[in-house]
Amino acid sequence: MKLTKKISNGLCSTRNLAYRYQGKIQLKGGSNVALNLFKKSAKKLDDYSLKHGVGLVAYDDPSSVISEQFNTIRTNIQFSSIDKELHSILFTSSAPSEGKSTVSNNVAVSWAKQDKRVILIDADLRRPTIHKTFNVSNKSGLSNFLLGTASLEEVIQPTMIENLFVITSGPTAPNPSELLSSKKIQKLFQILTTKYDFMILDAPPVNSVTDAQILATKVDGVILVVPQKIADKTGVTHAKKALEIVHANVLGAVMNRMAKDKMKGYYGGQYGGY
Ligand SMILES: Nc1ncnc2c1ncn2[C@@H]1O[C@H](COP(=O)(O)OP(=O)(O)OP(=O)(O)O)[C@@H](O)[C@H]1O
Ligand SMILES: [Mg+2]
Repeated sequence: MKLTKKISNGLCSTRNLAYRYQGKIQLKGGSNVALNLFKKSAKKLDDYSLKHGVGLVAYDDPSSVISEQFNTIRTNIQFSSIDKELHSILFTSSAPSEGKSTVSNNVAVSWAKQDKRVILIDADLRRPTIHKTFNVSNKSGLSNFLLGTASLEEVIQPTMIENLFVITSGPTAPNPSELLSSKKIQKLFQILTTKYDFMILDAPPVNSVTDAQILATKVDGVILVVPQKIADKTGVTHAKKALEIVHANVLGAVMNRMAKDKMKGYYGGQYGGY
């Protein structure tokens, strides 16, 4: 039996671009992603966010419909785990440029605006964007801390948003997977989850490198970002399996770039079972 919780959707406009957006989370056991979500369109690696960061609509335009959708995603992530409170959440996707940073960063903002203390970590040591998005230095970040060349205090940076702190990627390291599997990162996560209400990881894609699989085992829950008509169905299935192999707690998927006509009936946080 397939079970789905629809989480949210919205019309999104960011500081640089206007786009249509819909977020939706499928809970465990749910796999009823409509086939048309996977129709392929031309896919290319998008380097825009590498240079300029991602659009922070939840900050720039908090009363917009799309910000409301990020709030709904936030709320439904919180309620997606009945047995265990979630304090650490990793966002990933099957392939690059599918919206991991956009969704994770905006959900982090949404949490911070709820007066929750949030630490957002750029765990994508290969294609980092958080320093660009929040306009902070990337001289000292996660890679420095893991290499032992910077202390925790040195790598945590405040942002323009109250309650929201970031750890940027730090300079590119030659061995990201090794760094991310070190014992030091486990200790780091333990400390951060006691100091902050939520720890959010912006991770690399599952099917490209092992980093996300490694990190997924160290957090309370994992969210897959799946862009409509861009994500490849086989790729998404593979990513889900890869996460399950390492016993990651896959909470569900946020459907990104949904067409407007697919958004009907979402308002009011409607839940549905299929
Ligand atoms: N719903 C959307 N509609 C239109 N553009 C979007 C949407 N979501 C993300 N984008 C754009 O797609 C590009 C890639 O987004 P983003 O950087 O968030 O993806 P990513 O998965 O983090 O990429 P990477 O694999 O490089 O880390 C960015 O230019 C972003 O602005
Ligand atoms: Mg990214």
